[in-house]
Amino acid sequence: AFIRYFEQQGHQAVPSSALIPQADPTLLFTNAGMVQFKDTFLGLEQRPYKRATTSQKCLRVSGKHNDLENVGPSPRHHTFFEMLGNFSFGDYFKRDAIRFAWHLLIDELGLPLERMWFSVYNDDDEAERLWIEAGAPKERVLRFGKKDNWWSMGDTGPCGPSSEIHYYWGDLATQTAAGVNKDDEYLEIWNLVFMQYDAKPDGTLAPLPAPSVDTGAGLERLASILQGKDNNYDTDAFAPIMARIQELLGQDDAHRQQNLARYRAIADHSRSISFLIAEGVMPGNEGRNYVLRMILRRAAR
Ligand code: ALA
Repeated sequence: AFIRYFEQQGHQAVPSSALIPQADPTLLFTNAGMVQFKDTFLGLEQRPYKRATTSQKCLRVSGKHNDLENVGPSPRHHTFFEMLGNFSFGDYFKRDAIRFAWHLLIDELGLPLERMWFSVYNDDDEAERLWIEAGAPKERVLRFGKKDNWWSMGDTGPCGPSSEIHYYWGDLATQTAAGVNKDDEYLEIWNLVFMQYDAKPDGTLAPLPAPSVDTGAGLERLASILQGKDNNYDTDAFAPIMARIQELLGQDDAHRQQNLARYRAIADHSRSISFLIAEGVMPGNEGRNYVLRMILRRAAR
């Protein structure tokens, strides 16, 4: 539905790139949808389209974006996941990025506005105004600093202020703005990055050739909301894996409940391990091979 929606809005559907970045020595693994478009944002590569959409295989186990220790205890984090994205290479900017996200989530997928929160970077008055114009109540648009609302791929490369969409899945009576970016019931579902700069190794920010858009929505998180589940591991992507773990152990539901974090870690890590091996990585002592071995060991433990 995501890809189809953005195709209808004039985006080219592009296949996921590999988990092992081709020709990018700054990254061990693809950690976001924008990785295959890095040079396009930087103006170093021309593509025959200015708008693209993907469902990108991602691994966040090493480097700047590392979720490994969250996997298991968290109902929402993964090492391997699929990131849905729409991209503009010097075409549309904040207004349309916000309009598309709003239209897809609220009008097409029917998410309830009373559970949605929107965040913008500190001084981004324009993004705040655009959310309100789209239909967001002013009190649901919050401001955050660099930690939450600035995105960069790594220490260098394309970056910029971002605007996030959060979904509250708890009891409506106890919902409050203070929980956003803090409590587990407030789930970040989509990050819209307004790409404007190229971070240089010396820390300076050079403007990109043209303001651009890079977004990322977690497929597994969106699926949990649309399937009415309070965690990703009960969705149709994970339920069969969880059931298979239980079956192999020959255990009952009580055992699974008591060891939920362990079942989840095994389910998550099995996917990462499978996808890495499918791309030719083998357990070993260095670099990517070592990361694979580490994930395998954590699952085994
Ligand atoms: N590149 C942005 C992210 O990974 C969208 O969150």
